[in-house]
Amino acid sequence: MTIPLIDLQAQYQSLRPAIDDRIAAVLSEAAFIGSDAVAAFGEAFASYAGHAHAVTCGNGTDALELLMDAWEIGPGDEVIVPAMSWISTSEIVATRGARPVFVDVDPLTHCLDPDRAAAAVTDKTRAIIAVHLYGHPAPLGALRTLADQRGLYLIEDCAQAHGARYRGRHIGTIGDAATYSFFPSKSLGAYGDGGLVGTDSAELADRVRALANHGMPGRRHYHRYHGRNSRLDGLQAAVLLEKLPHLDAWISAKNRLAGLYRDHLAKADLRLPMVQEDAYHGYHLFVVRSERRDELADYLGGAGIATTVHYPTPLPLHACYAGYGHRPEEFPEAVALSRTALSLPMYAELTDEQLAYVTDHVNRFFGV
Ligand SMILES: Cc1ncc(COP(=O)(O)O)c(C=O)c1O
Repeated sequence: MTIPLIDLQAQYQSLRPAIDDRIAAVLSEAAFIGSDAVAAFGEAFASYAGHAHAVTCGNGTDALELLMDAWEIGPGDEVIVPAMSWISTSEIVATRGARPVFVDVDPLTHCLDPDRAAAAVTDKTRAIIAVHLYGHPAPLGALRTLADQRGLYLIEDCAQAHGARYRGRHIGTIGDAATYSFFPSKSLGAYGDGGLVGTDSAELADRVRALANHGMPGRRHYHRYHGRNSRLDGLQAAVLLEKLPHLDAWISAKNRLAGLYRDHLAKADLRLPMVQEDAYHGYHLFVVRSERRDELADYLGGAGIATTVHYPTPLPLHACYAGYGHRPEEFPEAVALSRTALSLPMYAELTDEQLAYVTDHVNRFFGV
């Protein structure tokens, strides 16, 4: 048996006629840019996730970058980011000329540790970026309080957490703004790139919308700001519109599979992902931890089971940040995570039989 980490083909097959019809409609109408589907998807996603406003854009990195620009975060400013995430989270701060201030993650949730974040705030800090890593909500209550007390923007990077909830609320609705990626492998994935900024602030939404469209607030050929071109295209919007109504069922299927993983792997010498009491996990990834991670990955690979590491290097230790002179000892939890984390196959269409094949092999590896 061969089991991929995520099976995009299986999902496509389950929706094929409807997706094909949507794509055919875009082609026949030549509605490639700025089409009704783009506006409809923005509205549908805002209503799904609980945002008063949604601005679609080219990808999740752009979504973050547009917020930096909208709030004019740049040279002299600091932004608190978790030490473990995909590079976009800190890249967009550094490329704006501001300084990403890396903060270690909580050993259990793997998200930004709020106490360490509080200790990292200075008079230059403008914002905190909370990442819901792997799909588990970051500690939004504590981070919201911190942001309010210190007058900071709280950004929720929801790229990995569509459909996740914190204290019953959709993630993304506690920060001042939320960013999403619709990269194909995400829980809500397009057939190319896509992104979105969600917020309750009409003013912020207008500014982000203008910045994403060459600084044009409304009237064509009138450019109030230096902006850029960052668009969700008509084909991606059509695909996302078709997929959105299935998202909750997919997240719920992934939660069921996570339960099966937990049952089957109860005796294996592994740390299973924890879920906090007030959290509903989005399970973009199912990440286990083992001191024998590399051996386990090789063993599973030999049995046709795909795994990968999210992520092998904590953000501050990447070569692009060498100038800051960070040392691994500053980020013990992120370093431990980078050495022990292993993502197992996780997608809504994973069958119980496939999952049992994975867990049998994991148990065999540990001799249980
Ligand atoms: C946490 C996080 N932030 C931002 C992004 C950037 O999204 P995109 O690839 O759409 O630019 C990703 C995507 O991989 C991500 O995982």
